[in-house]
Amino acid sequence: MRELKFPENFQWGVATSAAQIEGAAFEDGRGASIWDTFSRLPGKILDGSTPDVACDFYHQYKSDIALAKSLGINSFRFSFSWSRVIPDGTGKVNEKGLDFYDRVIDELLKNGITPNATLYHWDLPQGTEDRGGWLNRDCADWFADYAEILFRRFSDRVPMFSTLNEPVAIYVGYACGGFAPGKKSEKFGKQACHNALLAHGKAVERFRGVASKKSKIGIVVDIWHRHPARDNDPEDVALAEKENEESYRFFLNPVFKGCYTEYVLEKMRREGTLPQMQDDDFKSISQKLDFFGLNCYGRVVVSRDSEAVKKKIVNAGGNFADSGEEFYPKSIYDALHILKDDYKIDIPVIITENGCRDASEKTVDGKICDEYRIRYIRGFLEWIHKAMEEGIDVRGYYLWSLIDNFEWTAGYEYKFGIAANDRNTRKRTLKESAYAYRDIIRNNGMITD
Ligand code: GCO
Repeated sequence: MRELKFPENFQWGVATSAAQIEGAAFEDGRGASIWDTFSRLPGKILDGSTPDVACDFYHQYKSDIALAKSLGINSFRFSFSWSRVIPDGTGKVNEKGLDFYDRVIDELLKNGITPNATLYHWDLPQGTEDRGGWLNRDCADWFADYAEILFRRFSDRVPMFSTLNEPVAIYVGYACGGFAPGKKSEKFGKQACHNALLAHGKAVERFRGVASKKSKIGIVVDIWHRHPARDNDPEDVALAEKENEESYRFFLNPVFKGCYTEYVLEKMRREGTLPQMQDDDFKSISQKLDFFGLNCYGRVVVSRDSEAVKKKIVNAGGNFADSGEEFYPKSIYDALHILKDDYKIDIPVIITENGCRDASEKTVDGKICDEYRIRYIRGFLEWIHKAMEEGIDVRGYYLWSLIDNFEWTAGYEYKFGIAANDRNTRKRTLKESAYAYRDIIRNNGMITD
């Protein structure tokens, strides 16, 4: 038995995003986002749902914040809805939208909970999309204008801002058609991501100019490191390499090294997908940040041979959760080492998201039992702790998510919350994992075998 303690002022949080929890999609002057549009296209969302109501956080934020507080959570990650603040994406500001975020932030502060705000969590205003969206280089300036409004209004009370959350989602939306806005062109994907990186850079510039000096800025990127199913199979190895290059390295390299990797550049040239870019872009994109937000949920084992994948997962000592997803908590330790060893980052890291859906979740004697989720959280925390013992500067951990919510294309079917949400009564019920997380927070650590 070993007791793992975390540092005194460790941030124990939960993470959420606007489109996934707020609802009130067309209330008080909010404009549509690309997810409002996309979710209405037939067949795009697993259960045919929309984010129109979501968790109704727009009206229930007070009780949800009280719920978070009851668990001892000391930091709350949320995102601003761009189209609530500027309904059309550019131009007229919606005061009622800003007022809502004022209320949320003040409520958090009143409860001793530190706000951690994201500017862009995938919900581009439809008005912006109608003008080309992320394919339009001007979108970077539109984003910076929007960001500046938020910095001016909230940076005295919000000590942490992230520009983009998981920008790879933009690739999925413009290259693969899997996410909003549902476009399908490799060239679009690369251009949209480049423009989003530029938007990040321009927002950081604005931040340095106008934000309160007490506040800090970062970016959130997800690392799902790819492992070849068979280490000695050149095809598997090449596939893993390709996917690592085109996923997290595509973003981390420009942000931390000021350029795309040779691999990515060469591939884009060969395929004719090189985005339009200007030399100065990288100066802006690679400005020094105050912290880095890491989202990590697991690793991915790749091969064209699915049997080889299964074998590797079993052999690795991991096992499948009932959902068929691999339990591989070491992935977070590996991701932290990628940041330290490959990117030499010397700024604090915040685990801005980690969590899972628990397909085995069931109600027994009135309790929502989600054993797997508890095991998952503890497993990841152990590996985070190990990385911290080795000197990696991790300042906080945010569990995804407080409440079951609108899980993008999976609709309301995939439940990631530590609290359930009755979609008729909107009543929240804490799951067993919520109590387990509360105990970890109370002890500022946990005992492991
Ligand atoms: C993310 C996402 C969340 C998801 C979560 C679970 O940033 O990937 O931010 O929106 O809901 O990852 O799939």
